[in-house]
Amino acid sequence: MATEEILKRVKWLRAELDKHNFLYYVQDAPEISDAEYDELMQELQRLEEDYPEVMAADSPTQRVGGRPAAEFDTVTHALPLLSLSNAYNEEDLRDFDRRIKRLAGVEHVDYVAELKIDGLTVALTYEDGVFVQGATRGDGVQGEEITANIKTIRSIPLRLRQRIPGRLLVRGEVYMKSQDFESLNNSRKNAGEALFANPRNAAAGSLRQLDPKITASRRLDAFFYDLVLWEGPNDTPPAGQWQVLQNLREWGFKVNPHSQLCADIEEAIEFCLKWTENRYELPYEIDGIVIKANSLRLQEELGATAKAPRAKIAFKFPAQEVTTTVRKIEVNVGRTGALTPLAILEPVKVAGSTVGRATLHNEDNIRDKEIMIGDTVVIRKAGDVIPEVVRVLKEKRTGKEQPFTMPSRCPVCQASVYREPGEAVARCQGSACPAQLKERIIHFASRDAMNIEGLGPAIVNLFVEKEIIKDPADLYSLQFEDLIGLERFGDKSVQNLLRAIATSKENPLPRLVFALGIRHVGAEVARKLVQHFRSLDALFHADQAELVSIPEVGEAIAESIIHYAREEQNRVLIEKLRQAGLNFTLAEQDGEEKPRPLTGLTFVLTGTLNTFTRSEAEELLRELGAKPTSSVSKSTDYLVVGADPGSKYEKAVKIGVQVLSEDQFQALLEEAREGE
Ligand code: IVH
Repeated sequence: MATEEILKRVKWLRAELDKHNFLYYVQDAPEISDAEYDELMQELQRLEEDYPEVMAADSPTQRVGGRPAAEFDTVTHALPLLSLSNAYNEEDLRDFDRRIKRLAGVEHVDYVAELKIDGLTVALTYEDGVFVQGATRGDGVQGEEITANIKTIRSIPLRLRQRIPGRLLVRGEVYMKSQDFESLNNSRKNAGEALFANPRNAAAGSLRQLDPKITASRRLDAFFYDLVLWEGPNDTPPAGQWQVLQNLREWGFKVNPHSQLCADIEEAIEFCLKWTENRYELPYEIDGIVIKANSLRLQEELGATAKAPRAKIAFKFPAQEVTTTVRKIEVNVGRTGALTPLAILEPVKVAGSTVGRATLHNEDNIRDKEIMIGDTVVIRKAGDVIPEVVRVLKEKRTGKEQPFTMPSRCPVCQASVYREPGEAVARCQGSACPAQLKERIIHFASRDAMNIEGLGPAIVNLFVEKEIIKDPADLYSLQFEDLIGLERFGDKSVQNLLRAIATSKENPLPRLVFALGIRHVGAEVARKLVQHFRSLDALFHADQAELVSIPEVGEAIAESIIHYAREEQNRVLIEKLRQAGLNFTLAEQDGEEKPRPLTGLTFVLTGTLNTFTRSEAEELLRELGAKPTSSVSKSTDYLVVGADPGSKYEKAVKIGVQVLSEDQFQALLEEAREGE
C-alpha cells in the first residue's frame, strides 16, 4: 500500500510535470531541461507501477497512448457543432455587420477576429477541472470518442490550472504545424508509405487513429477558441468572446496569440487584409479569419440558421496564385470517352500542398488561354481544391514552346477521336476502350448508382487490367475462384465483395438506369424516366416525341438515350444484365412518388446567398420536391433574393411573384423539412 508520503510525492510530481508541460508546450518558455523533465516523469512512472492504486486518468504519464481500440465509440454532442457562413470580400463583411445591427436593433457592435486554423474541430469535456472526454466533430450532431488520442497532445491540459466546479465544454482546432507535416511526409516517403496531401489531412489521419500510440508519435497541437458550456459559479461567466479567450488561456489552454478585439467591422476588415498578406509566414496553415460579435448575449439573441450562427462569419482568403512551368500536356480518357487535356507541371506549393498537374478542361480552353508546352503559367486551386491554369505569362516565352494539338487517336486504345460540331469535348470512339471501361464500371458501382461496397477505383483497375471483366455485367458472373489469390484478396474480402455484388441485384430500377452511365442521364433524370416508363424495355423502345414529353427531359437527353439503345455493344450489355437477374421493371410500391412537402412549387434564386451556394440551395429544393428554375415568370411561386440581386427581382415585383429574403427562405425550408 502506498504510504501518505508516497501519495504526497506522486501528487507533487504530477503538479510539477503539469507545470513544466504547460511552460514548454503552451507558453513556449521551458524552465527545466528535457533531461530533468524526463527524470521526474520516470520517477512518477516507477511509483505508478509499484503502487497501481495511485494511478489516475489525468496523470501526465497517460499521454503516451493506451491500448488500441477496435472502433471508436459514438458521442452525441451536448450542443450540435454548426458551421460558418462565408464572406469573400470586404462588402460581404459590411453586409454581415449591417445585418447583425438590423436584426439586433443596435448601432454599434464590436468584434473578435481570430485566425481560422486549418485543422479539425475537437470538443472536450472537463469535470471539476479534469479532462474526461474528447470527441471529433463528426456530422456536427454525433462525433467519435477520441479521449485517449486527445491525451497524447501535450499542449492540451489534462487538468485545468484552476479548479472549475461542474462541467466545462470547450472547442478548439487540432492541427499539425507545416514543418511537422513535411517531416512526417518525408519519413513516410522513405518508408514507402502513402503521403498526406496537406497538414489538415495529416492531422485528421493522426487524430483518428485507433491506436493512440500512433497519435502520440505524431506532433499534433491545438488552439482553443470556444466555451460551449460552463457550470461554474454564476457570478463569473464571461460576457464576451474576448473574455472567453482570456479565461481559456488562464485555465491552461493554448489560445491563438494573434486574436484581436476590434472596435468595429472596419478594424476587423483590416485584420482580414493583413492576414491575407501575412498568412504564409505563420508556422501553420489557416484558411480564413473568423469574425465573431464579441457580446455573448448578442450571439445568443441572434441565434443560428439551420447551418450557422448569425453572429459569426468566416472570411475566406482569395485563392493563392503561383507560377510554374508546363512540362508537357497529357490526355486523359473518361467514362464517356471524353478526352481531357492535363498539364503536367513543374511541382509547386499552392495553398498548402504540392501541385504537379492541373486540368486544362478542353481544347478550346487551351486555345483561348494560348497555353503552350514549356510555357510559364499562373496556377491556382479553384475553391482551394482543384488546381487550374489561370493564364500564361507570355513575356517569359523563349521561343522553344511547343503548341498542343489534340491527338486524333485515343491515347489508350488507339481508336479514332471525334469532336461533335458545337461540342467542346473530343471523345474516343472505341467501344472497348479500357480507360472508358474502367470509368464506366467505377460509375456503375458508385454509391448513388448500384452502390457496390468494396468495388472502388483500385479494384476496378485491377479487374480491367487483368481482363477479369470486360463490361459491368461481368461482375455478376464472378466466382470465388476468379478472385482468390489476386493481390489484396483473401477469403474474407472475396466473400464480402461477391456478397455486395449479389445484393446490388436487388436495387430498384432508377439506380440501374443511372448506373448505365448514359450521357446526360443523372440520378434525378433516371428517376423521372423510370416513373414514366416503369420498365427498362419501355424506356429503350421510346421514341424522341415520347421522351421529350416528360418534364425535365430535353432533346439532348432524348437523343442520348436513343443513341445508347441503338448501340450493339449496349444491347449485349443489357441482355447480360437481364440474364443476371437485375430489376428491369419498377415494383408497384416503388413507383409512386410520394408527394413531398414542396411538390409542385417553382423557385427562382437570385443574388448571393450567405448560407449556401446556389447549387446547394437548388439541391435542397429538389430534395423537398420543388423545382428550381432560372427565370421568373407568372408560374414562378417564389423568388429567393440574396445579396446584390439581379433584374429578376424587379421583374418578380412587377408581375407579383412572392419574394423571400434568405431568412424567410431558411424558415420555409426548415418548416418543409419538419413536414417531411
Ligand atoms: S468558431 C459555429 N473559431 O472552422 C462554428 N472556428 O466552419 C463556430 N475553426 O471546423 C466556429 N479556427 O473548428 C471558430 N478561431 C476559430 C476557428 C474555427 C478554426 C474551424 C472550426 C470549424 C470551422 C468552422
